[in-house]
This record gives sequence, structure tokens and C-alpha cells, in this order.
Amino acid sequence: MEGLGRDRPSWLEGLAHLWLPYAQMKTAPHPLAVSRTEGCRIHLADGRVLIDGIASWWTACHGYNHPHIREAVRRQLETMPHVMMAGLAHEPAATLARRLAVLLPGELDHVFFSDSGSVAVEIALKMAVQFFSNRGQGRRTKFAYFKGGYHGDTLGAMAVSDKGTGFQGSFAGLLPSQFLFDLPRDENSDAVLEQFLDRHANEIAGFIVEPLVQGAGGMVFHPPAVLKRLRDLASRHDLLLIFDEIFTGFGRTGSMFAMEEAGVSPDIATLSKALTGGVLPLAATIASRRVYEGFLSDDPQAALMHGPTFMGNALACAAANASLDLFEREPRLKQVAAIEQRLAQELAPCRGLPGVKDVRVKGAIGVVELEKSFDLEALRQGFVDAGAWIRPFGRIVYLAPSFTIAEDELAALTGAVRRVLA
Ligand SMILES: Cc1ncc(COP(=O)(O)O)c(C=O)c1O
Repeated sequence: MEGLGRDRPSWLEGLAHLWLPYAQMKTAPHPLAVSRTEGCRIHLADGRVLIDGIASWWTACHGYNHPHIREAVRRQLETMPHVMMAGLAHEPAATLARRLAVLLPGELDHVFFSDSGSVAVEIALKMAVQFFSNRGQGRRTKFAYFKGGYHGDTLGAMAVSDKGTGFQGSFAGLLPSQFLFDLPRDENSDAVLEQFLDRHANEIAGFIVEPLVQGAGGMVFHPPAVLKRLRDLASRHDLLLIFDEIFTGFGRTGSMFAMEEAGVSPDIATLSKALTGGVLPLAATIASRRVYEGFLSDDPQAALMHGPTFMGNALACAAANASLDLFEREPRLKQVAAIEQRLAQELAPCRGLPGVKDVRVKGAIGVVELEKSFDLEALRQGFVDAGAWIRPFGRIVYLAPSFTIAEDELAALTGAVRRVLA
């Protein structure tokens, strides 16, 4: 925070009381103090401006402060910021649920709202287990999950995330054991999964997978055929298939939802991140009609046992409806296709750099994978010095910008990646 001089705002004193995510607070550099955001830019309190290469953890798909979303939230604030959802409901939530049901493929029709991606995943897991217990199949309490997958930081979500992704820390002993597999992308991995299911399907409630792109686990892509195969196996063994579209949903991979590219729909899907255009926290777990009907009963105990306090928050639902308006009115998927082309062109020269293992692009995701891990803080600082907000992790340097990013802003980001890695 040097450079602020005597005009240093008094709120900066409070930074010492913040505990930051995934950060070793003894050695972590001070967080950069942000005074405002606009478009694809983060304005720092010391006057510097950074171009955001990762859209605030992949949420701000329309850029920051979009006037249409701001106006929708402002209007909602005047009538009702929030009302509890048990026994009550309101227009923004009902409208959003209907719109999501129409947008999502297949029979994904029934929307259960919550407030973060991890919680949406917890709800999906609980839905799957209770679906079977309601049918008298109470032994089906386990999940098959996949190498490289990441589904969140709460306990259930951690239990179905690959421990190799490094997010589990010292919690292994706290987590229920689940079954880890390679994604079925070749004969061998397919046979391993199939043989396991032949013996153990009656203990398994479902599969959980991030369709097409495993994000936080390493930005690894897989072909649509993998999802078709999982759909086929799930149907054959009567398991529920859960697609976690928290990262991939809302255009990130090039179609509105990644599942569309595979032409298969799951029994349960999770959404969050870009759902409100990055303005307010909101998540949704969407069940197929069959799953929903599995909870209809004269027995009150068969009801889904979950209910977040801020479920269906009206401000967040208003933001999400406004975000969906923007997907309808503005050419977001075309913008993603243009970003994909430019990322491919502009990151290609990284292939020739020493220490670079792979360069890959899918939709508005551009990845440079390095051969070994590196000094993350030095790299992050290098990007800040180059005027870019980019957060490498593990061996991965990636861009996942807002879809509204201007050509020169994207060029500045890809230029920063090339220069800093060189
Ligand atoms: C695929 C996926 N699932 C779940 C989550 C967890 O979401 P949240 O951080 O909102 O809890 C994330 C977050 O990065 C994610 O990428």
C-alpha cells in the first residue's frame, strides 16, 4: 500500500483483521486495496488500475457494475431485499426458477436455491442420497468422483473433490470416504469403472463431475464423449448423474451450459458463480422431474431436509434475472467464440517458451500449463506490475475473463502472460 501517502484511507487499518482465503497469513502479501470496479477493470486505492483476467473467480461474466443488473438490484432493494422462503415465495425467485427450468436441457425442472456453490453441491449430494432412501434403498450413500475434480470447500463437497488438487489440507480424517476414479476416457479407465459398478452399484447414489472442464483442479478439459459414457453408465446402474456447472455454466465453455455440447442431461445440476453476473451470492441445485417426484409422499420425513436461511434471496434473484436478460439481449456466446479465437492465437506463442508443458483453450478459458510449480507470489506480483489481475495456481496460469472484455484489454492480458512467463 505504498504510494497512498498521507491520503491513506482509514479503512485500510481494518485489513489487519481480515483472514484471507487459502492464504498463509504469516507470509502472504497484503491484499491489494480496491476502491472500485468498472467494466473489466479493478481500480486500486493507490490509483493503479488492473485489467481483470479472471472476472472475480469467474463470476463477472458481463464485466463489473453492469447498469442493467445494478438497476434491477436497486429496484428490488426498494420493495424487498429479502424474505424467508419457508412457506413464502416471491416474484424474483419464481421467475428465475422458471427461466432456469426453460433454459436447462432435459427434465431439469425443479430449482432449490442456496447461497454458494459448495452448498449447492452439498444439497445435490443430499438430494441423491435421500432420493434413494425414500425408495427404500438406504444403502446407496456413496459417490463416485473423478481425478482432477473440485466441487467446493464444505465437507461433503471436499469428500468428492480429488485430494490431489491440494484443497483438503489436514481434513482427510474428517471426510467420509468416497470412490475416486479416472474419468472414463479410454478403454482401461472405462473398464475399471464398469467393473466397480458391477460389484458396488448398490452402494452408490451417483457420480459427480464438472462437465468438459475441471476448473480449480487444474483447468483440464475432457471430450463430450466422457459425459455420454457417464450418462450411459448412470442409467444402466440406476445411479444419479450430477453435473457441477458452477464454473462451466452460463457460457464459459462456449455453449450456455457445457452439458449442451455433450447432448446429455444429468439428473441433478449445480449452478452458481456467473448466475448473478458476479453481483450477489446465489446458487441453485436443479433436479430432474424424476428426482423431484422421488420426494413426493404422504410421509413428511420424505421431504428434502435442507433449508438455507438466505435461500432465494430476492436481491440475488433480481440480479440473476437481469443477468439472464443480458444473455438474451446481448451476443454473449458470440463474444465467447471471439475470445476463444483470440486466446488461441495470442497464447499460442507460449508453446515455445521454456518450462511450458501445454497451451489449451476452451471457450473463454485460456490455459498455459507449466512443467513444474513455480513461485506463485512472484508470478502474481509480475502480473500486477504488468497491470493484469491474474491468479496462477499449482502449475497453471490461466485467463477466464469477462465476456465483454475489449480486444485491447484481452491483448494486454495475453501480452502480460507471454512477457511474465518469458
Ligand atoms: C466446479 C465448482 N464447484 C463448486 C465450487 C464451490 O463454489 P463456492 O466457492 O461458491 O462455494 C467451485 C468454486 O470454485 C467450483 O469451481
